[in-house]
Amino acid sequence: MRFKFLVLSLLPGLLAAQVKPVAARVDSVLALMTLQELVGQTNQYNGFWNATGPLPVGNDWVEQRVRALKQGGVGSVLNVAGVNQVRALQKVAIEETRLGIPLIFGLDVIHGYQTLTPIPLAEAASWDLEAIQNSARAAAREATADGINWTFAPMVDISRDPRWGRVMEGAGEDPYLGSRIAEARVRGFQGDDLSDPSTLAACLKHFAGYGFAVAGRDYHTTDYSAHTLYNWILPPFEAGVKAGAATVMNAFSAANGIPATGDSALVWGELRRRMGFTGVVVSDWGSMGEMIAHGYAADVRDAAHRALIAGCDIDMESDGYLRYGVELARRNPADSIRFREAARRILSLKFQLGLMDDPYRYCGASQPDVRTDAYEMAVKSSVLLKNSGVLPLASGLRVGLTGPFAAEKNGVLGNWRVSAKDQSAQSLAEAVAGTWTYAASSPHSVGQEAFHAELTLNQTDTRANDAAIKALRKHDVLVLAVGEHGYESGEGRSRASLRLSAVQQDLVRKALATGKSVVLVVYAGRPLVLEPWIQDGAAAILWAWQPGTLGGSALADVLTGRREAYGRLPMTFPRSEGQIPLSYDGYATGRPGPKPEVFWSHYTDEPNEPAFPFGFGLSYTSFAYRDLEVTPSPEGWSATVTVRNNGTRAGSDVVQLYVGRQGNGQLYPTKSLKGFKRVILEPGSEARVRLELPREALTQRDGQGRTVAFTRGTLTITVGPNSREGLTWTTTLNP
Ligand code: GLC
Repeated sequence: MRFKFLVLSLLPGLLAAQVKPVAARVDSVLALMTLQELVGQTNQYNGFWNATGPLPVGNDWVEQRVRALKQGGVGSVLNVAGVNQVRALQKVAIEETRLGIPLIFGLDVIHGYQTLTPIPLAEAASWDLEAIQNSARAAAREATADGINWTFAPMVDISRDPRWGRVMEGAGEDPYLGSRIAEARVRGFQGDDLSDPSTLAACLKHFAGYGFAVAGRDYHTTDYSAHTLYNWILPPFEAGVKAGAATVMNAFSAANGIPATGDSALVWGELRRRMGFTGVVVSDWGSMGEMIAHGYAADVRDAAHRALIAGCDIDMESDGYLRYGVELARRNPADSIRFREAARRILSLKFQLGLMDDPYRYCGASQPDVRTDAYEMAVKSSVLLKNSGVLPLASGLRVGLTGPFAAEKNGVLGNWRVSAKDQSAQSLAEAVAGTWTYAASSPHSVGQEAFHAELTLNQTDTRANDAAIKALRKHDVLVLAVGEHGYESGEGRSRASLRLSAVQQDLVRKALATGKSVVLVVYAGRPLVLEPWIQDGAAAILWAWQPGTLGGSALADVLTGRREAYGRLPMTFPRSEGQIPLSYDGYATGRPGPKPEVFWSHYTDEPNEPAFPFGFGLSYTSFAYRDLEVTPSPEGWSATVTVRNNGTRAGSDVVQLYVGRQGNGQLYPTKSLKGFKRVILEPGSEARVRLELPREALTQRDGQGRTVAFTRGTLTITVGPNSREGLTWTTTLNP
């Protein structure tokens, strides 16, 4: 038993002594492996046993998996965390298998580990790439200290459909912002050296197009054009690959008649050949086997074969490769090669992670304190959508606080909290205890609250609303914490209606009826639809998203002005569900308007415009833009604008650069974000802000994926505070 382990444990040292590159070291291990062991590396199981406890006897399912592990039939696991668990399971892999190849331990570290940062869509609202990278770095430090070496993040799915619950997990609707954030998150998770035991292998997901689920319904077929694939869906993946992401995850979804997990053209054509991705592709949970449910594969063997051909290296929880891989490989030499190449990529990752040299390297760190990172991110994520002047709340005001999320310690954590303890958030009520008066209103979620379970919402009982309003009627300002529970968004949590619940609307109505200033603090995993009477009646609206563990003090500090309102929207907020899908970067259509008659692209019962546009967010001061100057150069254009802080408080604005392109024989969005920069200004001061627009930023890919340069036609550059406002400059290229 010990001999094998020694062979492999000495192997790195021997090889390292000759300073062999990873590829050569991988070859040396591959040469030792049987076909069963090659296939075993491609199998990933969910945590199947409390490895620090006795093996459950008589549980065939667990015993089968333990047997597989000991036969070298498991290459990685997910949802095993904690140094003791990791060490115990790794010990089985190292000492009780023939070759002692270590496992990789994966987990969904999506927005923090035990200390949760705001949900990723909220982080995107900061438009602060450094803060986002720091947030991912903090999550990596916390998770690796618990033995984790691989996170299934960042999710980089573009989506324009807030009905889809997983918008909470991404970076919104725009490919440029989404690409910059993908880069920041990969760098934050992976650092400069994957073998550093405080870094995590990242995983770009879900490849590809999952965010275009028909009708916003999760797991539904996705429908998108080649133009959308190439110019919206793929760019964040490409950016993440260029940033060095170690792994990519297949999507559950199907498009163009093929499930993503079986789509060779997508994986081999786009990911591997065009983007040059050489890392590991892992299926989503059961997405291989789900090709049967899709109606695409005949059975698990067929699904496994189709996934193998389509370049899926690791089978997460379909058991397809483990059950049929050896048979497939023996039947077809091409499949044998496919398994060998998949194992090669997996072993390469294990070497890069340093696990082959020290399988327990992630089991030694002490838990870091990352609460400051979580607080900073929560402050920078909230978005001020409306402010009559009531915010920031002046000291001395008698503030009443109510609403179902005011004292909430669970729902504000967000959906992806696989490792955080329930009820571990600091609530807003806790943060303002002793200064504001809190009164409990009618509850929102009234039943079980669990990652897998439907929520039960209170739709009728408003008694506590009456009591709360009565208790606070002598206060000057009423702050209402309303919106969604963290388990109302996320995987499997699509909504057809995006409105506040009837009970919450009752509370808002009664608060407005008092005649006091009403401040809405909206907790949500997505854009919601606020009825006009709510939006018009509220004196202020602060979008809190799900702010994570430190959300209470972060929001209290923004509401009282100790910290500025910082965020800008990464997604368009619709006026109604009927407008969805809705984004700022739509096409002009052949019938733009408005026109005096009906024959233009519009609704007869709703404006085309959103409630709040992409890039929008208010500050506690005001900014004016003037003197846009655009200078062409061989490399492209430099746009410089003067921004002035006209208010009485210091503040910052996100200067955004959008382009419009016409007349080049291609269809272009009316506007596309191509650059942004935050400017910080003292009251009364101003600055010239310069943004660069490289010529290649104007290219886009046609329906065949070919890159088309923008060489002639009208170029419009708009620089402003959001996608709706700004100063414009236009030129004609090659008239
Ligand atoms: C889930 C999700 C995916 C996640 C994986 C592992 O179903 O779709 O994003 O990483 O399974 O938990």
